[in-house]
Amino acid sequence: MRSLMIMTGCAMLLWTGDGRADGPGEAPLRGIVNHALDVARMQSLAMAATLNSRPGLLPRTLGKDGVLVTCAPDWWTSGFVPGVLWYLYEDTKDTAIASLARAFSARVESQKYVTGHHDVGFMIFCSFGNGYRLTHDPAYREVIRTAATSLSTRFDPRVGAIRSWGPSPSTNKWQYPVIIDNMMNLELLEWTAKEFGLPALDRLARTHANTTMRHHFRADLSTYHVVSYDTLTGLPEQKQTHQGYSDGSMWARGQAWGLYGYTMMFRETGDTAYLHRAEGMADLIIHHPHFPADGIPYWDFDAPGIPDELRDASAGAIMCSALLELSRFTDPQRGAAYRGVAETQLRTLASPAYLAGEGTNGNFILRHGVGHKPGNSEVDVPLTYADYYFVEALIRYKAWMGTGAQR
Ligand code: GLY
Repeated sequence: MRSLMIMTGCAMLLWTGDGRADGPGEAPLRGIVNHALDVARMQSLAMAATLNSRPGLLPRTLGKDGVLVTCAPDWWTSGFVPGVLWYLYEDTKDTAIASLARAFSARVESQKYVTGHHDVGFMIFCSFGNGYRLTHDPAYREVIRTAATSLSTRFDPRVGAIRSWGPSPSTNKWQYPVIIDNMMNLELLEWTAKEFGLPALDRLARTHANTTMRHHFRADLSTYHVVSYDTLTGLPEQKQTHQGYSDGSMWARGQAWGLYGYTMMFRETGDTAYLHRAEGMADLIIHHPHFPADGIPYWDFDAPGIPDELRDASAGAIMCSALLELSRFTDPQRGAAYRGVAETQLRTLASPAYLAGEGTNGNFILRHGVGHKPGNSEVDVPLTYADYYFVEALIRYKAWMGTGAQR
């Protein structure tokens, strides 16, 4: 067991590192989790009220001028706010929140037909996937099936992967770009394969995960962001970044997507190769010399100005949710370490340094996300995917770590 003093926001915490929720002198994590969920609920209700009269729009981020930036349903993040509402319904059983979740999911439904990029998985499974899990609405089941069919059209057997972007003028510098983020979309395929008895979708998802395992990783198990494949040979033609610091760097959200994706693929398939890959990614992250003690990574582990670089709350939230799940699958020693880091991340994200005060932050839940630093887009702002994976992690913590039914 190791013990480490860390600063998060204004609070001094003690990370015991052995997977215990509360170290000596710490506020009980149970109360912190319930408080964060209360804030998430109040912020989300206020956000929904703001957009009720603006049909067809979803929240995206907050402009530097403090004005809400919305997106149309075809933006890749459109499913996250409906997903947050579904998680909050799960937590509260409040049917008024379920009605909002339904209304905001409906705004995204048209995206089930998307075949022009891979993000249909994020858009439909975070919204309708959670909605079906909680309501068993047969219409939702069909929406998910249609979306999975749409995504599957982007698979090329020669490459053995689902194409992420394009073809389009802005992506044609790559023959066949596949980004590590794409691992997340496989959950849509795995769920549909099981639900509808469609083993071809399971084979497709596994093939994508295996191809990514072969070509996206460096020897230390850090991951490239973009691998583009030669469409004739099916072999990589370029390995690059798009949103990270450099082609060879460890872009934080990319590591988070990979960690979450391989953890999810182990859950869905039981293939230990995926478990070992997730463990390798987790170990690299949590023992990395640039991983801050409060658990929220810099936007890129290799950003040149560390420690004066921005943190990315979205990467922290995705890692946190993934580590909570991985801690249940791995050996007890690793599990305790992963859970300890996830608990630290929950405490940090739920501290005033990241968690919005009620009615502030444009009614988003978390502050300090980094979308696309090299493109100078959505830098140090709220991001709906930070909110979604944070709320997911809070719900997971309550469900799995024995804090339920004690609000
Ligand atoms: N999937 C896009 C991103 O992580 O920014």
